[in-house]
Amino acid sequence: MEKEKSRFICQNCQYISFKWLGRCPECGEWDSFYEEKIRKGGLSRNSTFSYHKPKLLKEVKGYDQNRHATGMKEFDRILGGGVVPGSVVLIGGEPGIGKSTLLLEIGNRLSGSESSVLYVSGEESAAQSKLRASRLAIDSDYLYISSQTNLEEITHQISELNPKIVIIDSIQTVYSENYNSLAGSPSQIRESTAYLMRLAKQKEITIFIIGHVTKEGAIAGPKILEHIVDTVLYFESERDSHYRILRTVKNRFGSTSEIGIFSMEKDGLKEVTDSSKFFLRNSSTNENASGTAIVPTIEGTRSFLVEIQALVSASNLAIPRRIAQGIDYNRLCLLLAVLEKRGRLRFFNQDVYLNIAGGVKISEPACDLAITLAVASSLKNKPLLKQAVAIGEVGLTGEIRPVSFIEKRIKEAVKLGFRRYLLPYSEARGIKNLPEVELIGVKRIEDALEKGIKENMNA
Ligand code: TYD
Ligand code: MG
Repeated sequence: MEKEKSRFICQNCQYISFKWLGRCPECGEWDSFYEEKIRKGGLSRNSTFSYHKPKLLKEVKGYDQNRHATGMKEFDRILGGGVVPGSVVLIGGEPGIGKSTLLLEIGNRLSGSESSVLYVSGEESAAQSKLRASRLAIDSDYLYISSQTNLEEITHQISELNPKIVIIDSIQTVYSENYNSLAGSPSQIRESTAYLMRLAKQKEITIFIIGHVTKEGAIAGPKILEHIVDTVLYFESERDSHYRILRTVKNRFGSTSEIGIFSMEKDGLKEVTDSSKFFLRNSSTNENASGTAIVPTIEGTRSFLVEIQALVSASNLAIPRRIAQGIDYNRLCLLLAVLEKRGRLRFFNQDVYLNIAGGVKISEPACDLAITLAVASSLKNKPLLKQAVAIGEVGLTGEIRPVSFIEKRIKEAVKLGFRRYLLPYSEARGIKNLPEVELIGVKRIEDALEKGIKENMNA
């Protein structure tokens, strides 16, 4: 019998060693090596793959002509305008979040006489999938279901059926006979994904791969999975909420800053197209509440409003607390320093808590002004100007700097009835075609504090 060779790979940095090591010499991680058995004639030499001549670049068709829209706007936008043939999309998320539900719906929408869809479920029997399908009212004539976990069998089914779309639910259940390790082990996951990637490119089919997420929030298996595939999406939920957020983490065919919002209903996932209403749905109805500010933020190609909430309260700690949820902690510290130095406000004996309502994360500096105003408003215990929205970056000397897409942001807020805009002075003069709104240009943070916070409650 032929002797099997094995090698050991670090899960953290992919360092390869031919004997087991307790600590990786490359990245220093402990207990990170897993064993991989290599048989002669592994998957890479499989006969499914034949030689292809190189093509002239100018004769290669671009992706955009070939994209297939699913008709689910939130999903299409996330992918950059539809599904690209020959691409592999990995969808990660905790168990029970709705990955199978979403992909069954997508499979149904993409199936047609020209393009059949194969849904491979290693987790549920065909009857269980049928139960889900009837709940979602799915009755496509071109959607095939298969309960299979063996990669060679799956390849065989793909060759027989010739589908345009294949959905693998989930990668942790798939195993190849060419590797000795268990299904779900790092080497099985990695090799199966790499194999599916080659299959997708060669046959020009789109493969969606579902991946479970571990407690630490990473897709189980080595990090390299994310490097192999074309697109990585994460499906997340807010705590105890039926809303779901789909995020692009990586996309070879589009932007990575897009988010899609869905809600899980009795009969499947529904799109939430009005994102501003979603993020402001619980915003304080009391206009005289202090410590809140509204800002239109841009994620990818869409603009939506978020509410920033701040709470400043007297501290009895030697080093007062600073807690930032949804924004960078260091950015909060920096803005507090600007407020102390330029705005003459005192935070050294105050705890500061900051939260972005709705569970989004904001990284753009255009929200600085709203953050500083929310914090100052809570410290002074005075609300912001009625119906006001604040947009602007705050510089270290206290100047309010211009931001990108200012008109797009304002138009989004106008749709929801906001009439007053605190914005950088230079930008306020440039905007002419919005007659029904009051534009308050501010040059410096002192200026913004004076104009933005109601000193007189009847204002
Ligand atoms: P599922 O798609 O099975 O999650 P995943 O594949 O990510 O593990 O979704 C499971 C949850 O969704 C389950 O708790 C039931 C709920 N659900 C609905 O609320 N409505 C529906 O129409 C469906 C199909 C599921
Ligand atoms: Mg599932």
